[in-house]
Amino acid sequence: MTTHPFQISRRSFLRYCTATAAATGLPAWFLERDAALAAPATKPLGPNDRPAIALVGCGGMGRGDAGNAQRFGDIVAVCDVDEGHVDAAVKQFTKDGKTPVKFSDFRKVMERDDIHVIIQATPDHWHTLVNFAAAKAKKDVYGEKPLTLTIDEGKRLSNAVRENKTILQTGSQQRSDRRFRLACELVRNGRIGKLTQVTIFLPAGLRDGPFASSPVPAGLNWDFYLGQAPKVDYVKERCHTTFRYWLDYSGGTMTDWGAHHNDIARWAIGLEGPTEVEARVLAEPIPGGYTAISEYDVTFTYPNGVRQIVKSTKDDNIFGGVVNKDGQRNGLKFEGSEGWIWVTRGDLSASKEEIITTPLPDNATRLEASTDHMGNFFECVRSRKDPIARVEVGHRSASICHLAAIALRLRRKLRWDADKETFVGDGASEANAFVAREMRKPYDYGFI
Ligand SMILES: NC(=O)c1ccc[n+]([C@@H]2O[C@H](COP(=O)([O-])OP(=O)(O)OC[C@H]3O[C@@H](n4cnc5c(N)ncnc54)[C@H](O)[C@@H]3O)[C@@H](O)[C@H]2O)c1
Repeated sequence: MTTHPFQISRRSFLRYCTATAAATGLPAWFLERDAALAAPATKPLGPNDRPAIALVGCGGMGRGDAGNAQRFGDIVAVCDVDEGHVDAAVKQFTKDGKTPVKFSDFRKVMERDDIHVIIQATPDHWHTLVNFAAAKAKKDVYGEKPLTLTIDEGKRLSNAVRENKTILQTGSQQRSDRRFRLACELVRNGRIGKLTQVTIFLPAGLRDGPFASSPVPAGLNWDFYLGQAPKVDYVKERCHTTFRYWLDYSGGTMTDWGAHHNDIARWAIGLEGPTEVEARVLAEPIPGGYTAISEYDVTFTYPNGVRQIVKSTKDDNIFGGVVNKDGQRNGLKFEGSEGWIWVTRGDLSASKEEIITTPLPDNATRLEASTDHMGNFFECVRSRKDPIARVEVGHRSASICHLAAIALRLRRKLRWDADKETFVGDGASEANAFVAREMRKPYDYGFI
């Protein structure tokens, strides 16, 4: 009897595929093909084969990512500019009597030869300097999305990662989610005919304020937290979690959720970037409050004529949770000459069931496959191959979000040269001023 790589019989394997198909809504043909194609990403490592990991940025996502990374390595160091957060991480990652070493300055982490891997989940305005410092120190990084604060940062970081031959996985985990990959493969293989439009819905951001300043909380190094961003008094809403609704540190839900769904749209379209972007602001920020645009309607045009529309929805909350069950969910709708496909976390549907249930032929275009984003990273740490969301993927997908955020700032139509990564034509000089930002000293590239 022939056995499957997982050492189960073909009959049990097919039963597994049918059961999984029923549970996930994914077609059995895809699950079966996938299992034959992708080796399990979570191959257990031996006790002496576990990389030493440092967590930089010990907030909500950082502690979640590091917990996930513990399947493959040991958290030996934790670093944060807020003592409270670093202490919480020490508590969480103390294991078998071993306590991770505490750091408040990530540059000291990079000096340690006994640390191999960095999990990086600082606010967006710190991503590049931490990732860049890691590359210089020859450390591999799982770095949270959006990979950068500006397009220029992405260009520099891509070079640094390649020059130093390090591995960087962008934390855009939808690339390792089967539903999104299947949707992209179906689109790429013409299952909905000629792709004409992708409509993306992102949760609307927060629109609130004005906010008052207050004394800096004990244990927080506010100047270090602000880093390259302008020096301002401490305002609670500018700090933990809600930093993402300020243009100084991020770009609102356009860069936060956009880093996920715009990445998937780009994967399906298969091009580096659009040639045009036009943006409409649907709700103005409140003076003295969050500065990123909370409600928007943005249209990109790609060189092959495909339109990508990115709209905010108030029917899902900022965490993607349902506000209005009959309303518009966040996700992506691909429309073509012969039908449509809708995909979001936990849901894949199409204008006709056969679009999904009919197997793609053996000679169909297949996309790179990963079913475990963190596992794929650690596999690549060992094999030295590129992970699924390698630095250029993170950079180019973040760039789409940045283009939209720039068009929203300038409230106008702009033309983009994706090869040269520069705006061209009317409004180009004004727009190009946002491709890079002035970094407040000492927190520029000289800092690392
Ligand atoms: N992949 C996903 O689905 C996902 C989900 C949530 C958040 N994220 C990303 O993770 C990142 C962090 O988000 P969060 O919600 O955890 O934010 P958070 O505010 O909870 O955590 C950020 C942490 O970074 C620390 N920090 C700030 N500057 C630092 C520095 N220079 N050195 C070390 N630590 C520093 C802060 O003190 C804080 O503890 C964001 O970029 C966000 O987009 C990704």
